[in-house]
Amino acid sequence: MKHGRFETLAAFCGAMEWAADSETIYQRIVDVSSEYFECDSAHLHLIDIDGKRFVKYASHDEFIESIEAQVTVTPNVGRMANLLNHGELIIMDYEHPHEDDEIPDIAFELGFRSAVSIPLSSSSGVLGMLTVVFTSALPFSDKDLDFLLELGRILGTFVQRVQMSKKDLELQVLEERKHLSSEIHDNISQMVSALAIRADIASSCLDDGDVDALRSEIDAIGVQARQVTKVLREEMLSLRTPIEGAGDVGADMAELLDRFESQWGIEVELTVRGEESVVVSEYARLQLVRIFNECLQNILRHSRATMVHVSIGRKNNRALISISDNGIGFDVSSVAPERLGIRIMHERAASAGGKVSVVSGSQGTTVFIEMPVAG
Ligand SMILES: Nc1ncnc2c1ncn2[C@@H]1O[C@H](COP(=O)(O)OP(=O)(O)OP(=O)(O)O)[C@@H](O)[C@H]1O
Ligand SMILES: [Mg+2]
Repeated sequence: MKHGRFETLAAFCGAMEWAADSETIYQRIVDVSSEYFECDSAHLHLIDIDGKRFVKYASHDEFIESIEAQVTVTPNVGRMANLLNHGELIIMDYEHPHEDDEIPDIAFELGFRSAVSIPLSSSSGVLGMLTVVFTSALPFSDKDLDFLLELGRILGTFVQRVQMSKKDLELQVLEERKHLSSEIHDNISQMVSALAIRADIASSCLDDGDVDALRSEIDAIGVQARQVTKVLREEMLSLRTPIEGAGDVGADMAELLDRFESQWGIEVELTVRGEESVVVSEYARLQLVRIFNECLQNILRHSRATMVHVSIGRKNNRALISISDNGIGFDVSSVAPERLGIRIMHERAASAGGKVSVVSGSQGTTVFIEMPVAG
């Protein structure tokens, strides 16, 4: 190993920074492997849910990736079974392969000569393997191999935590859905039952022949029915279609802005800077949409703005979004503690590895959002 062990370990720890989403972390692990082991290809496989196959999650080699993106490995035979059940390394010499090894032709075509697969061990067993491939003879000494096993234990524990926190996030999303649906249910059903009561009153006014009272009940029903429609629209605006998968921030924002403009008659403008679309993970997307809806609700309720301008761009690995209005502005430093909207925006952004800042003055308000991009 050309790089020192401490240095290598530090690089891996850096790659596993918490804020990032799991796909980014897995990709960083193979990228660091490639750099620090100076290998010619690196792959990260994780064991699938029923424990029967290793599925490739990340690869540091675009050419290879395009050929075998879907390759899965069955772990229940030979050396693969030893890796899975006993946490053993698999060391491959392509010119003198072990009888268990099936070396794909493409490996020879690409000039690969050796490889090592490192088990990612955790307290719940081996969760996957990191494979590094070389066009030279294996550059590791016996002591290095011990270090690789140790590294595999650190990575395994980390992967275990990532998987656990991903599950937590999924639960959080479910909780949120439940919360929103109960909010709608409580608000709307209360209003509709009030309408039903008014209809009963109107009907008894009719029985009594009291035309004036009947008219005033019918007017009240009209007002209340329109109110229900308005509340429903607002709730739908914040719920919108469910989000699935990573996605293009520009497309999400455009959809919400269109709806906002046509519903409330406030002029909107969207600028997407740069040629590439800005894509964020499913979780970051969900948080962005919720933050964005809160911004729009605040503009509607507090700003008296006539114009909203949204700008989307990308700098390094961060999506940068700003939402500006030309309204009356407010004093950001003296928001009452019982106000939750902006506070929740900050929490949502932080939970997805991003951040929010709000700048406001007599010219209007701008909310800046930063989010990690996917991949
Ligand atoms: N775009 C804006 N223009 C002017 N004032 C704003 C704007 N956004 C927020 N504010 C001010 O900041 C305060 C705090 O906003 P925040 O979203 O935290 O709470 P809220 O909208 O009052 O209530 P909720 O908890 O329902 O969101 C608002 O009450 C309002 O005075
Ligand atoms: Mg608000």
